[in-house]
Amino acid sequence: MERRLASAEETRAFAAEVGAAWGPGDVVLLEGELGVGKTTFVRGYLRSLGWEQAVRSPTFTLLQLYPTVPPVVHADLYRVGSTQGLGLEELLENHVALIEWPDRLGGWLDPDACWRVTLEFDGEGRRVSVRAPGGGAAAERRAPD
Ligand SMILES: Nc1ncnc2c1ncn2[C@@H]1O[C@H](COP(=O)(O)OP(=O)(O)OP(=O)(O)O)[C@@H](O)[C@H]1O
Ligand SMILES: [Mg+2]
Repeated sequence: MERRLASAEETRAFAAEVGAAWGPGDVVLLEGELGVGKTTFVRGYLRSLGWEQAVRSPTFTLLQLYPTVPPVVHADLYRVGSTQGLGLEELLENHVALIEWPDRLGGWLDPDACWRVTLEFDGEGRRVSVRAPGGGAAAERRAPD
């Protein structure tokens, strides 16, 4: 699924739309350059779960937990060398996990088992593409020739 997002509010609304499908155990890899809108996307998802308090970028805390339904863990791995000892793996089972800079995971998560949200700069706005788990191969198999 691909979409143009003309404003930060459209990024937040889009997160609510795609996030309606997520539940505990879903892992969302948030890809895209510095400042492209990954944390904005997380804010929109949390807002859709009724979270009204602040959503801070976990750049220093690395992980931020939200006692929403479903519970959410938001990770920002930008400053992380290794995710060993973070406790993220244990949290994945019963949270929706949204992970900025997932390349820092060092490969222990299978990207094909995750949702992938990729944001790109596009003039004043952004472009986003979303791939469901197993989406690549499954989508190709379903595609008519
Ligand atoms: N669709 C959009 N159009 C224009 N601006 C947007 C859009 N989505 C988000 N923004 C803006 O982009 C800026 C950066 O957003 P945000 O902090 O979410 O980026 P990030 O990808 O999390 O950055 P970092 O890599 O530093 O964590 C914010 O000012 C936000 O309002
Ligand atoms: Mg961020």
